[in-house]
Amino acid sequence: MSDEDERPVPDLTEVQREFGGMNLSVPDHAFWETQPVGQLKPELNKAGEEGPIDDPIAVADVKQEPYKLPDAFEWSSCDLTNDTTKQEVFDLLAANYVEDDDEIFRFKYSPEFIKWATQPPGYHQDWHLGVRVKGTEKLVAFITGVPAKVMVKGKAIDLAEINFLCIHKKLRAKRLAPMLIREITRRVNLRGIWQAAYTAGVVLPRPISTGRYWHRSLNFKKLVEINFTTLHARSTMARSIKLFKLENKTRTPGLREMRDEDVPGVTVILNKYLRKFAVAPVFTEAEVRHHLSPRDGVVYSFVVEDEGKPGAVTDFVSFYSLPSTVIKNTMGHDTLRAAYSYYNVPGKTPLLDLMGDALILAKQRDFDVFNALDLMENEPEAILSALKFGIGDGNLQYYLYNWRLNEELPSSEIGLVLT
Ligand SMILES: CC(C)(COP(=O)(O)OP(=O)(O)OC[C@H]1O[C@@H](n2cnc3c(N)ncnc32)[C@H](O)[C@@H]1OP(=O)(O)O)[C@@H](O)C(=O)NCCC(=O)NCCS
Repeated sequence: MSDEDERPVPDLTEVQREFGGMNLSVPDHAFWETQPVGQLKPELNKAGEEGPIDDPIAVADVKQEPYKLPDAFEWSSCDLTNDTTKQEVFDLLAANYVEDDDEIFRFKYSPEFIKWATQPPGYHQDWHLGVRVKGTEKLVAFITGVPAKVMVKGKAIDLAEINFLCIHKKLRAKRLAPMLIREITRRVNLRGIWQAAYTAGVVLPRPISTGRYWHRSLNFKKLVEINFTTLHARSTMARSIKLFKLENKTRTPGLREMRDEDVPGVTVILNKYLRKFAVAPVFTEAEVRHHLSPRDGVVYSFVVEDEGKPGAVTDFVSFYSLPSTVIKNTMGHDTLRAAYSYYNVPGKTPLLDLMGDALILAKQRDFDVFNALDLMENEPEAILSALKFGIGDGNLQYYLYNWRLNEELPSSEIGLVLT
């Protein structure tokens, strides 16, 4: 996708001079090595008990003025209830956000998805942080935080979930990302929040856990045509299509779309289930209503209603929609329609059956592929391989800001899904 916004992006040489330039004494992570996070170099780690790394300070002692940006740019709190602003964020991300290593695909979060993900109950507009060019107001960088409560090994932490870090391609490698991270940290701290959770495909100081993506073909032919997957040397197109064929109807009795009256029941079973994992959110009913009520084109949620007790919910399964632009447009396809496994709660129904039904529900809604991380009970053999998922080449590292964990966690201990 080309950048259709013709307004120029000024140079950032000023910042480059300040931070850049290779120097043998420059640390491997000039920014992250200064931050309260677990370090990759053991000698940089401040030893201590699991918990906050930095000593607590008062909100009054947080820097009150924004960090200074180079002269050509200014900070901008983005109002995502405003359709023009929402479109500007969509345009920035659609042209500049995450790509795979081969630059074949780029995430294309829809405007409705961006609004949903950034406006949960209690959200703060000043945590939707943009950088604009002074004068033209062109949006050239972005990062968001949203408030959440996450349990980490039995301790409840009010934190910020950080997402959508994106810098315009013309402003890359000029140390703007550390400025965005510092400024959003300051804005989060100003509200008395001292921790954050985030994920990234890259390894930074220091992951608390690493998950792996798995992919289940739903539309095999298209996935081959766009080079998402390849036809196995010893197979044929017809045989592969047959291999990935799904039943037309779901199997679990009582499975139906989630409704508003299910919110209390889903909140109870979800919170109870998530306590199994070392790192997982705690949801209020309002948050469940926001994050998990079905929204067409954004999030798809289903419950299993107890056949003996009408209205009682025993299981839950959900996925969200995150399409990608096919950058190298092949065979006339411009979009990869991907469903991502979200929160699932096996109660009376085995997870294998719930996930199997999720595949059918996603196929019915015309998704091309169903992606899942090997988190929680998504076991590589018993669940993922059994349902004909193939292992991907992408890892997703999980991070906590200002929270020390003395050992890395297996991905099966992660119960937090960041969209
Ligand atoms: C990620 C991105 C914002 C980084 O910007 P950049 O211009 O490449 O890098 P900058 O020169 O501004 O900053 C470099 C610093 O940011 C850090 N950084 C890079 N990617 C990061 C990420 N995803 N999360 C946190 N920090 C990151 C680097 O490690 C480096 O710090 P270090 O010296 O301590 O290691 C930019 O490449 C981008 O928009 N990429 C596409 C979208 C994307 O991948 N977003 C991240 C999703 S998790």
